Amino acid sequence: MPDRKIGVVIDGATGRLGTTQHLRALLAIRAEGGLPLSNGDRLVPEPVQLGRDPAKLAALAEKSGSLEWSTDRDACLADPSVDIYFDATATGGRPERARAAFAAGKHVYLEKPVAESLADALSLARAAERSGRKGGVVQDKLFLPGLKKLRKLYEANFFGRVLSVRLDFGWWVFDGELFPAQRPSWNYRKATGGGLILDMFAHWRYIFDRLLGPIAAVSCRHMTAQPRRIDESGKPYDVDVEDHAFAMFELEGGALAQIGSSWANRVKRDDLLQIQVDGTMGSAVCGLHHCFVQPLVATPRPFFSPEQPQSMNFDEQWQEMPEILPFENGYRAGWELFLRHIAEDAPFPAPLLEGAKSVQLAEACYQSHRERRWVELDRLQL
Ligand SMILES: NC(=O)c1ccc[n+]([C@@H]2O[C@H](COP(=O)([O-])OP(=O)(O)OC[C@H]3O[C@@H](n4cnc5c(N)ncnc54)[C@H](O)[C@@H]3O)[C@@H](O)[C@H]2O)c1
Repeated sequence: MPDRKIGVVIDGATGRLGTTQHLRALLAIRAEGGLPLSNGDRLVPEPVQLGRDPAKLAALAEKSGSLEWSTDRDACLADPSVDIYFDATATGGRPERARAAFAAGKHVYLEKPVAESLADALSLARAAERSGRKGGVVQDKLFLPGLKKLRKLYEANFFGRVLSVRLDFGWWVFDGELFPAQRPSWNYRKATGGGLILDMFAHWRYIFDRLLGPIAAVSCRHMTAQPRRIDESGKPYDVDVEDHAFAMFELEGGALAQIGSSWANRVKRDDLLQIQVDGTMGSAVCGLHHCFVQPLVATPRPFFSPEQPQSMNFDEQWQEMPEILPFENGYRAGWELFLRHIAEDAPFPAPLLEGAKSVQLAEACYQSHRERRWVELDRLQL
């Protein structure tokens, strides 16, 4: 069967996500001889690494099998052998880069968040429509084994009537003083698209829309827990964005969700992301991989005594769901969907309007904090 090549520029190829997830996903597809299409053709991605540092790009290209690399975005966009522009650089400036790619006639696939403002995010979705090119945003978390198990529980009507959801996310990110920080300094600066809400609520939006239920309104408070940090070159800087947030979401249908997200809390739970759903017929607690359930008929009657320590071990009262579905890497799965969307017009669940919905949620949370009130989420359309 014939091979069809598809040129993909990876902007930010030497960044963490660019290298460890996206480039790796495309190289894996290539190493398997390409992505099989429904007509029997194989679609072979030809990645081009785009970045700022020639030494880093050359070293990565060497390790990746002598890939092409460049520091010139305009030249990459002018190259007719490039079909897709993919952006995994720092968030700031993403709309300008994406707009330039649409204007050059490329399909555009973006890391989240697609923009820092809803107006910019919507303008990208419209740019895709106008150009007749395809646009998409990464929604990797839906493919996590823990979240796929949670989906099965909804499909099996395990919960009965869902009453509440609790999402806990985060870990301690060192400020760089005692130990080096584990997040890039751009995450902590507004000018480069930093901020925990902009960054993480992008995921929460599609997880709720696609799995837990649509969000009707939000209430949010945030803070800057670590206001002074040390950057990659050892220089101190002032943080001008939030790194810690508590939110409540009211879901359509009335259930409430409590969202704790932080780069400044310490983990004493099963995983870095944990979602608990409580329903009339049962509850589930799911992490990135594992998922535990407790049906109504196996729900204990705990006893509270001020005189003696708790005798029940609550953790032991939950049953773990088995591994039945095969593991899928969410980044690679996203690429396969987007490549098929371009090559054979296959359906794609995450067009740029979905990316705009994530930005809408972040904006609503910032507005709620500023105005100290609940903010409704309007239905978005182009
Ligand atoms: N889908 C996910 O789960 C997920 C996870 C982490 C990050 N992300 C997103 O991916 C993108 C990249 O994140 P990352 O963690 O790989 O970041 P990173 O700092 O590791 O990489 C960023 C890349 O952008 C380049 N860059 C361009 N302009 C920059 C600037 N002004 N400051 C700093 N770097 C700049 C850097 O050279 C680097 O190659 C972000 O938009 C982020 O929100 C997504």
